[in-house]
Amino acid sequence: MEISLATRLPASPVPEYARISIAGETAGSPVFDDVYFSDAGGYLESEHVFIRGNRLPERLSAGGSSEFVIGETGFGTGRNLLVLMKLLRELGAQGCILPDIHFITMEKYPLRPEDLRSAQGIFRNLSREAGLFQECYRIAGTGIQTMIPEPGLTVHLIVGDVLDICPALRLSRPVNAWFLDGFAPSRNPDMWSLPVMRELFRMSAPGTTLATYTVSGTARRNLNAAGFATAKIPGFGRKREMMVGEVFETVQPGKEYLRVVP
Ligand SMILES: C[S@@+](CC[C@H](N)C(=O)[O-])C[C@H]1O[C@@H](n2cnc3c(N)ncnc32)[C@H](O)[C@@H]1O
Repeated sequence: MEISLATRLPASPVPEYARISIAGETAGSPVFDDVYFSDAGGYLESEHVFIRGNRLPERLSAGGSSEFVIGETGFGTGRNLLVLMKLLRELGAQGCILPDIHFITMEKYPLRPEDLRSAQGIFRNLSREAGLFQECYRIAGTGIQTMIPEPGLTVHLIVGDVLDICPALRLSRPVNAWFLDGFAPSRNPDMWSLPVMRELFRMSAPGTTLATYTVSGTARRNLNAAGFATAKIPGFGRKREMMVGEVFETVQPGKEYLRVVP
């Protein structure tokens, strides 16, 4: 898997680190006035929305492909990555032969290592995964930072603004599953904008899926306009609904589709 940026991101030798406030079982951003994740169920929300929303247990255990690419908008505390690592461990223990996983994630305000440790401390059942990741977590500046927390899993953390990263990103194979995890569209519109969705579609192929916790009309319209078919399915905890999407060979931009609820 080759990954590169066709143009340089606006240079910044020292990245702008996140300002994060940790209280109880959740972590918030005073800048965006939103939470990194809800306190309802800790990492179970991530499993429900991103892992099962993209049907990863079935797809990763199905075999047939040597590589599998996951793309994420908004790395934040890395909770989704840790949950993915837990899934890989469980599938490995069941004897599944797993593809090499490339986790490509974009983040404008990475956490300082000490903040990452504190935030990941919330996920007590993911301490093994958190320890492995924290050992290789290094932010040297803007651009692609490559980390290998365990064999078979490469994390490409791209530090910069999605608006700059997405048009510049070149991948040697399409993304198989997207985790769309920006802050709420009303507070963080860039992450859900049509230009960004069009770039995500460019990096996708028939069979690519997406999942997100939001059912915002703007996010859905932009995804549909870019070419993703979308559907609402039951959300996690207090959230009645979430959204999934897929790229179909024959789908016309703007179309919606119905999906059997997992
Ligand atoms: C809801 S949080 C991500 C949660 C994360 N996946 C986790 O597991 O903690 C949204 C993230 O998007 C990042 N972000 C916001 N605007 C951005 C932009 N324009 N470009 C890249 N990242 C951005 C924020 O800094 C934040 O870390």
